[in-house]
Amino acid sequence: MILLVDDSRSSVNMLVNALKNFCRLGVSLNGEDAVRFARQNLPDLILLDIIMPGTDGFAVCDTLKADPRTRDIPIIFITAMDDLSHKTKGFDAGAVDYITKPFDITEVKSRVRTHLTLKLAGEALKNQNAILEETVRERTRDLRKTQIEVIDRLGKAAEYRDQNTGTHINRMSKYCRLMGKALGLSREEYELLDLAATMHDVGKIGISDNILLKPGKLDNMEWEDMRSHTRIGEKLLSGGSSRLLDLARVIAMTHHEKWDGTGYHQRLKGREIPLVGRIACICDVFDALISKRPYKDPWPVDKALAEIKKGSGEFFDPELVEVFLSLEPEIRKIIETHQD
Ligand SMILES: [Fe+2]
Ligand SMILES: [Fe+2]
Repeated sequence: MILLVDDSRSSVNMLVNALKNFCRLGVSLNGEDAVRFARQNLPDLILLDIIMPGTDGFAVCDTLKADPRTRDIPIIFITAMDDLSHKTKGFDAGAVDYITKPFDITEVKSRVRTHLTLKLAGEALKNQNAILEETVRERTRDLRKTQIEVIDRLGKAAEYRDQNTGTHINRMSKYCRLMGKALGLSREEYELLDLAATMHDVGKIGISDNILLKPGKLDNMEWEDMRSHTRIGEKLLSGGSSRLLDLARVIAMTHHEKWDGTGYHQRLKGREIPLVGRIACICDVFDALISKRPYKDPWPVDKALAEIKKGSGEFFDPELVEVFLSLEPEIRKIIETHQD
């Protein structure tokens, strides 16, 4: 729709005659009405007379340009043939073009056609962009979902070999997430930590069955073998290009390091152990204690919490133990909702 704004009826009639076959037309005979009409109908183009009693063309233009809803409607000024200053002022006010009075009908039609085409092309482009953006968002969501699923299965693959169910992995990574959140990590970071932690024992894929599934105690050699799951995990997860894989690598490598330097496999001590490794260590040990294993019954939650407290400053980062213990209600909730 084109809105024609002119206080002179004869001018309006000429324009209507010239343009009635183009598209629908709206007419305003003064500035106030033009603003109201434009806001209500959002025309595709406005032909706007400059000199009108009351609100003149410049004022109408200013008002429409200040309103986000009407800002992008192209405006063609109607100006007297000999008035150059109006043309300049019109362009400054944001007009896309001008036509002169008395009207040259061919010129009017040609300019209107050009600007209508431009407006419609611009809109088509905008729609196209919106569609593209939505497509990209959708693909990204899909990709992320696939990524999460693959990682989840990978973590569980290792865990099933260990005769556990995936619930240990789910709970352990949820405690890590809780701790990350409590430690003030951003949402993106603690979600990443959650995902990465699911792969902490992925190296167990490389441990032989007679060790993994042995019901009794492991001898020294067997223990040595079992411990190599941190190195295998590190190798499996290294060389990737994503932050997620790198974080998973660090966790796989350091989740058995102990605060006092007696852990494996690098015997790191205190804060030499990366934060995520220190977090994963507490969460992993705690959940192993409350889980049933071939060689032991599950511990009650109270007893497992007391054990973590006992290991504070010896096996575990004392500050992180404080944080972990402060999360007891949330941890119990996770246990309740993630049962075998
Ligand atoms: Fe482990
Ligand atoms: Fe584990």
